[in-house]
Amino acid sequence: MRKILITGGAGFIGSHVIRRFVNKYENYQIYNLDKLTYAGNLENLVDIESKKNYTFIKGDICNEYFINELFKKHKFDSVIHLAAESHVDRSITDPLAFAKTNILGTMVLLNAFKEIWKSNLEDKLFYHVSTDEVYGSLGETGFFTEDTPYDPNSPYSASKASSDHFVRAYGETYNIPYVISNCSNNYGANQFPEKLIPLFINNIINNRELPVYGDGNYTRDWLYVIDHAIAIDLVFHKGENKETYNIGGFNEWRNIDLVKVLCKQMDLKLKRQEGESEKLIVYVKDRPGHDLRYAIDASKINKELNWSPSVTFEEGLSLTIDWYLTNKVWMSNVVKGDYKTYYNKQYK
Ligand code: NAD
Ligand code: TYD
Repeated sequence: MRKILITGGAGFIGSHVIRRFVNKYENYQIYNLDKLTYAGNLENLVDIESKKNYTFIKGDICNEYFINELFKKHKFDSVIHLAAESHVDRSITDPLAFAKTNILGTMVLLNAFKEIWKSNLEDKLFYHVSTDEVYGSLGETGFFTEDTPYDPNSPYSASKASSDHFVRAYGETYNIPYVISNCSNNYGANQFPEKLIPLFINNIINNRELPVYGDGNYTRDWLYVIDHAIAIDLVFHKGENKETYNIGGFNEWRNIDLVKVLCKQMDLKLKRQEGESEKLIVYVKDRPGHDLRYAIDASKINKELNWSPSVTFEEGLSLTIDWYLTNKVWMSNVVKGDYKTYYNKQYK
């Protein structure tokens, strides 16, 4: 019987990872630790919340006493760590919150793990889920490999880079078995509408402007969230100790081209005239320190763990739009309260 602590399981990616593990591995006990910040939402997990092998724990990874007691009580043999502050724009307005959760929170977990297992580390694993943004920005060509030097530009990516370094340092210094994966931009069901795709889907539904930063020529590599969850499952079970795996969609889009494809699909699904949603596009002030291009070379995970994305971007995007169109109550609950304040401040 494995006892796995998954942090941040009420968030976007975490909820897909929780669902996969709880449904697929009935002999594992899965504990979801989440503070339920604005990004955490237990509605993401209603379909599995009463499963016997699932337990939700509300708590803060930065609370050292609480985390130490939790590890003493449950003796988790593995951690899959996703809890984080995750939005670049918020990191620009509140960088300290990112340092606290992403760096300090990761260290608190590493320390607790080290303290309960000491030298008894066989069959234990600390899996740290990270981002391709730690590598900084690419020019027009090239790809991030696992050997690309870290060069983060935003407080978000700097805090994630730092947390990656601490995981490696604990591996070297205290022999904690670890794996790290660095993934490209995810999209799919349950993503909070502060990130590009769900924000724009929601705005198109409501006939609101689509605020494209700068000239719209920034490029991202997009991966369907379920494919990320499948990759996490593989890395968790088959990844080599102390290795890093880059995960990406082999799927680069300039923001403006992606937004146009999204608008086309939305016009069809909403039975609007072709071109109607595109009229909502407005170019707005750029994000400071905006990374020009991210592109992942995912050949290591492809060759070593036999992973590749299961859906094309058009299929994944269509599934994502359908999810938002059928889950309007989810969206209306999410945009209640603080969201309006955030939105008005960010896009004033
Ligand atoms: P998210 O913002 O949707 O969810 C984060 C979750 O962490 C929320 O449920 C939140 O309540 C929880 N959380 C935040 N602070 C916490 C704390 N102090 N204690 C306990 N829980 C806390 O994020 P996401 O997009 O699902 O990303 C999950 C992880 O994957 C992050 O580590 C992120 O850096 C990484 N990642 C994200 C992407 C992406 O495109 N979204 C890509 C690559 C890697
Ligand atoms: P985002 O979803 O915030 O992810 P990240 O910054 O982690 O890549 O943004 C994706 C791209 O879309 C990025 O280049 C910024 C851009 N963007 C906009 O043009 N307008 C927006 O309102 C948002 C949220 C993002």
